[in-house]
Amino acid sequence: MFPSLGAVTLLVSAVLGQGYSTPKAPGTSEYVLKQGPLDTPWTEKVGTNPWPEYPRPQMARSEWKNLNGVWQYRNATAGDKELDNPPFRQELENAVLVPFCLESALSGVMGNYTIHSWYRTTFDVPASWTDKVLLNFAAVDYEATVFVNEKQVARNTGGYWAFNTDITDQLNKNGTNELVVFVFDPTNLHPNNIPLGKQRLNPEHIFYTPCSGIWQTVWLESAPAESIDKLEISADADGRVDITISTTSNATTAADFILYEPNTELVKFKTKVPVNRAHSFVVDSPQLWSPDSPTLYNITVKLGSDTVQSYTGFRTISKGVVNGVQRPLLNGGFVFMFGTLDQGYWPDGLHSPPSLEAMVSDLKALKEVGYNMVRKHIKVEPALFYQAADQLGLLLIQDMPALSTSSVKLENEPPKECPAKSLTPSLDPDKVQKEFDRQLGVMVRQLKSHPSIVTWVIYNEGWGQPSERYDGVRNTSIDSILTDYVRKIDPTRLIDSVSGWNDHGAGDFHDNHHYSSPQCGTPWYSVDSSPYNPDTDHRIAFQGEFGGIGQNISEEHAWKVPASIATVKNTYELDATQEIWNLRAHMLFHELEFQIQEFACSGAVWTQTTDVEGEVNGMLTYDRRVNRMDKEQWKKDIQALYDAAAKRAVTNPTIRA
Ligand SMILES: *[C@@H]1O[C@H](CO)[C@@H](O)[C@H](O)[C@H]1NC(C)=O
Ligand SMILES: *[C@@H]1O[C@H](CO)[C@@H](O)[C@H](O)[C@H]1NC(C)=O
Ligand SMILES: *[C@@H]1O[C@H](CO)[C@@H](O)[C@H](O)[C@H]1NC(C)=O
Ligand SMILES: *[C@@H]1O[C@H](CO)[C@@H](O)[C@H](O)[C@H]1NC(C)=O
Ligand SMILES: *[C@@H]1O[C@H](CO)[C@@H](O)[C@H](O)[C@H]1NC(C)=O
Ligand SMILES: *[C@@H]1O[C@H](CO)[C@@H](O)[C@H](O)[C@H]1NC(C)=O
Ligand SMILES: *[C@@H]1O[C@H](CO)[C@@H](O)[C@H](O)[C@H]1NC(C)=O
Repeated sequence: MFPSLGAVTLLVSAVLGQGYSTPKAPGTSEYVLKQGPLDTPWTEKVGTNPWPEYPRPQMARSEWKNLNGVWQYRNATAGDKELDNPPFRQELENAVLVPFCLESALSGVMGNYTIHSWYRTTFDVPASWTDKVLLNFAAVDYEATVFVNEKQVARNTGGYWAFNTDITDQLNKNGTNELVVFVFDPTNLHPNNIPLGKQRLNPEHIFYTPCSGIWQTVWLESAPAESIDKLEISADADGRVDITISTTSNATTAADFILYEPNTELVKFKTKVPVNRAHSFVVDSPQLWSPDSPTLYNITVKLGSDTVQSYTGFRTISKGVVNGVQRPLLNGGFVFMFGTLDQGYWPDGLHSPPSLEAMVSDLKALKEVGYNMVRKHIKVEPALFYQAADQLGLLLIQDMPALSTSSVKLENEPPKECPAKSLTPSLDPDKVQKEFDRQLGVMVRQLKSHPSIVTWVIYNEGWGQPSERYDGVRNTSIDSILTDYVRKIDPTRLIDSVSGWNDHGAGDFHDNHHYSSPQCGTPWYSVDSSPYNPDTDHRIAFQGEFGGIGQNISEEHAWKVPASIATVKNTYELDATQEIWNLRAHMLFHELEFQIQEFACSGAVWTQTTDVEGEVNGMLTYDRRVNRMDKEQWKKDIQALYDAAAKRAVTNPTIRA
C-alpha cells in the first residue's frame, strides 16, 4: 500500500497537461523503450505520450482525456485464478507503454507468451466535468476485464473492437481513481480458436509475432446523463442519408442533425432526426466521394446538451453489367479496383503503428503511385486509419480477422499450420463458429459509417472456414449463410464471401488467388480455385492476391530474428536485385493488363504494401526506410491498368469475354 500515490499522480498529470503518466512508484521499474529486432524512423519519436489524437473521429466529443502513457504491468503467471484476487492498490513491478502490444519493443515489455496480464494505472477526472464519465477502450487483444476502484465495470471479448462503459457511479470525482485491467489472450493456444488474423505464438514466414493487451487508445470522456451512444450514417450518390442515432436511454425524442459545406462552417442542410430508430432523408445535389475527389462533409449531431462531431461522404457502391461484363460500380460507373494486400504490421509496435503519421505514410505511399484501393488483410485498424482512407480517397476492402488454422499446445506439440482447408480445429466447432459470427457482426457495425469501405471479406483462403455444409437444416455453405447475415447488417456494400480457395458460389465476387502471375477472370486456373465462366457466374471476376515477388534485403532493414531470416527462402519468387524486382513487377502488370483487355477482370490486389518479419515482398521494407518501387514506372503501369479497363468497358474484346 502506498497512500501517497494519489497526490503524486495529480502533480504529474498537472505538469504533463494533456499527456498522462503514472509515476514510478517504489518497487516498480521505469519505462524503457526496448531494443527490438528492427525499428522505424518513428520509434524514437514516440516518447511517453503516444497517440495523442482523439481516436473516434466519427463520434467525437470535446470533453475528453487521453489515458495513454506509462502504466504498470504484471504477467499473471497463475492464469485465470488471479481474477479472484485482483492486485488492487498494489504496485505492479513492470512499466508498460499503453497502447503498444506487450510483445512489441515500444511497450517496454517485449514479452512472449503473455497469455494472462494485469495492467494498472490511476487517474483523476477534470474538476470541470460535472456530467457522467465514460471510460473507452479502442481495442484490447483478446479479452479484457476492467475494474475501476475495485469494482468490475466491463468485460469485452475480441481483439479488434472498441467498447466503453459508464463509470460515473464508481468514481471518486475529486480524488484519484484506480483502473485495473486483466487481459487474457491465448492467441493460437490449444484449445482456443479465435479471430486472430496472422498472429501466432510460433511465428513463421506468413505468420507473425502476436499482439497481446491494450493496443489502441484508452480515454475518458464526459457526456450528459442521456447521451448519444452510437451513430450509424451512410450517404449515397443520390443524396440519400440513412442514419440511426442510438442513445443511452429508450427516449423517442429527436436530435438535431447539421451538415456543413466542405471545408467551411456554412450549413448546407439541417434537420431533426428521431432517435433510436432508422431514419432517412435526402440532401440536395451533394458533391460525390470518389478516389479522385474524396469530398467529405462534416456533421454535428446534438441531443439535448450532448454534441458530437462526425462526417460522411456521398457515394454508392453496387454491381452491374457494363458492356457484357459484371463489374463493381462506384456512383454508377465501373471502377477498376487496384490495391495492395495491407497487413498493418510494424516492427516497433506490431499491431500498433508507432504514430498517426507513420500509419498514414503507408497509405500516402500507395496513393502516390496511383493505387485506388487497399485490402486491409485479416486485421482491423484504429478508426483514424479509416478516416485517413476516407480523406485520401482509397477504396477499402475489409477482411474479417481469420480464425487460426491450427493451434499449439503449451507443451509445444508441432503446429499444423496449413493445409488450412480442414475444418476449424477446436474442441467445440459450434461455439467457435458462433463467436466468429458474432464478432463479424461487431466488425461490420463498428466500421460501416466509413465511406471508403466498399467490400467486406468473410473468409480468406479457407482459414477457419468449414469446408462443406454448416447448417444441417438449411444444408448450405457457411459462406452463403454469413453472406446473408452481413448483407442484412449492411446492404450498402459488396461482399467477397471467400477470398481465395473454397468457393461455394456465395457473394458478389469470384475471387482467385495466384502467385506470382494473375489469373483474373480467366478461363485458366490452378489448384484451389476455379476458372471464371462469365456465362454461368454472375459475380465479379477478381484477383484477390497476386505478385508476392520478393527481393532480399541487407540485415540493416531485416527483422533480425534468425528463424525469420531462415524463411526468406520460402518466398514465391526472389529477385536478384531491386532493378530486377521492378522489371518483374512490370512484367506481371503487363500480364494483368492483358487479362483486363481480354477477359472479365475487374480488380486486383498486389502482395504487398510492406515486408513483414520473414516476408521480403513489400513495396516498402518492414522498417519503411526503403521504397523498392521505381515510382515513375509503377505510375505508368498502374495507369495502364485503369486505361485498359476503361477501354474494355466500351470496346469488345478480341478473344473471349
Ligand atoms: C508470462 O507467464 C507465462 C506463464 O507462466 C510464461 O510462459 C511467460 O514466459 C511469461 N512471459 C513473460 C514476458 O514474463
Ligand atoms: C470532494 O468532493 C466532496 C463532495 O463532492 C467534498 O465534500 C470534498 O470536500 C471534496 N474534496 C476535495 C479534496 O475537493
Ligand atoms: C516465443 O516462444 C516461441 C515458442 O517457444 C518461439 O517460437 C518464439 O520464437 C518466441 N518469440 C520470441 C520473440 O522470443
Ligand atoms: C430499453 O427498452 C428495452 C426493451 O424495451 C429494455 O430492455 C431496456 O432496459 C430499456 N433501456 C433503458 C435504458 O431504459
Ligand atoms: C471538418 O471539421 C474539422 C474541424 O472543425 C476541420 O478541420 C475540417 O477541415 C472539416 N472538414 C471538412 C471536410 O469540412
Ligand atoms: C445437402 O447437400 C448435399 C450437397 O449438395 C447433397 O448431396 C445432399 O443430398 C443434401 N442433403 C439434404 C438433406 O438436402
Ligand atoms: C537474406 O538476407 C539475409 C541478410 O539480411 C541473409 O542472412 C539470408 O541468408 C538471405 N536469404 C536468402 C534466401 O537469400
